[in-house]
Amino acid sequence: MSEKIYIETYGCQMNFADSEVVASILEKAGYQLCSEIEGCDFVLINTCAIRDNAEQRVRHRVRELRALQGRHKRLRIGILGCMAERLQSRLMAEEDNVSLVCGPDAYRRLPELIMAVRNPSVGTGRALSASDAPSTADTARRVPTEVSAGLAVATDLSTTETYADIEPVRLASNGISAYISIMRGCQNYCAYCVVPYTRGRERSRDPQTIVDEARSLFDRGYREVTLLGQNVNSYGLTPNPSPDRRGEQIPFPELMARVAEIDPRLRVRFATSHPKDLSDELLQVMAAHENICRCIHLPVQSGSNRMLKLMNRKYTVEWYLDRVEAIRRYLPDCSITTDVIAGFSTETLEDHQATLDLFRRVRYDYAYMFKYSLREGTYAWKHLADDIPEEEKTRRLNEIIALQGQIALENNRQEVGREYEVLVEGESHRSKEQFFGRNSQNKVLVFDRIPSAGGPAAEPGTYRRVRVTDCTAATLLGCLV
Ligand code: 5AD
Ligand code: SF4
Repeated sequence: MSEKIYIETYGCQMNFADSEVVASILEKAGYQLCSEIEGCDFVLINTCAIRDNAEQRVRHRVRELRALQGRHKRLRIGILGCMAERLQSRLMAEEDNVSLVCGPDAYRRLPELIMAVRNPSVGTGRALSASDAPSTADTARRVPTEVSAGLAVATDLSTTETYADIEPVRLASNGISAYISIMRGCQNYCAYCVVPYTRGRERSRDPQTIVDEARSLFDRGYREVTLLGQNVNSYGLTPNPSPDRRGEQIPFPELMARVAEIDPRLRVRFATSHPKDLSDELLQVMAAHENICRCIHLPVQSGSNRMLKLMNRKYTVEWYLDRVEAIRRYLPDCSITTDVIAGFSTETLEDHQATLDLFRRVRYDYAYMFKYSLREGTYAWKHLADDIPEEEKTRRLNEIIALQGQIALENNRQEVGREYEVLVEGESHRSKEQFFGRNSQNKVLVFDRIPSAGGPAAEPGTYRRVRVTDCTAATLLGCLV
């Protein structure tokens, strides 16, 4: 009987891309993936560790699954991703219904880990990593794999693993847009951030495998790819000893150009850009290719130079504003989005005001806004006080959210009357008669499926021109033209 596996994903786009790699590895090994949790034998939860509330959600979910395990005795739970890497076997001690823990660089070993959980005798007394991991030299931080009494842990971080040869199984895909992971890890060591510890050293995937994957998606009808990395601007810049590389190393602007040149009907997006590395060359390549989407996610984190320094962001507000100006110069119709943290260590009211001022200057179309969450092991955890009271963090965050809501609405009001090429994605949540899609700026447009003036109905996966007639802070409403 083949084991039925259900994968559940939390966190960033990179995690969703990773789950598709996991699905591919498991399918190749003969496991059956299921789209519903009911009736599966193994739940694999791909987790995020970036803030405490992300981890609490997963813990809550794991405890909730006890009920299902009560009804289905065979059901086992595995934790993948950043929380697995951060907590390792501690996770099993704390959540005693978890049987498997597997970090982001150990996914190739999932089939054997699952097998070890099912057949405890197979693994007992043998450290799986000893012979099966690529080589000792490849491993940035060696944590032995442990298998005992139906439990399995693998959390080795690699300096070379990019899963370049694995064709992801597109889970929950709309058949129109897909993520392509182009690099892994991060070594920027922002003071607050746990990612360098959970995802390891930065490494870039072979460019040809990326172009091939994008072309294959296009040939299968996909019309949008998003190239993913923690800091895509440093793609190809760190020396990469990966054995699967074919010797070619190209910078990110060139990779973007190669992917964009597959076909003008293929939209290309990317995330995330670190402001310190956003180059004019990339903006020039974007300007030269209409199908590279006019949307740049440029996390600012704070509008205060003192905070940026303390955060180890390696740029100033002036540098950031210069990059924003460069974007506007090369790409006047480009939307800019950001991430921001409220209440980082020692943040004063003045620092907070500086963040609000920066938001007023840049006028982002969208922002992901967070309260600072202290993460064990980070520079801030070791050296900086988490000294802004929770209620004050909340108050500052709410102030940023209110301001950003107002700016987004004002920005959207300016869109009324404009026309956009929209990639139609499918039915809107509200009504079957309404469809939605996105413009190049990544704004969602909702419109009647059948044009009121007559003409063909909109079909998912096609491009249609839509005129904006109204808006909210989050959505543009329009009609087919
Ligand atoms: N607390 C709050 N937000 C954080 N981020 C990263 N680490 C933390 C933390 N410890 C935010 C940053 C980053 C985004 C992915 O998550 O804004 O850009
Ligand atoms: Fe974290 Fe900074 Fe790396 Fe982003 S660039 S993942 S915030 S360390």
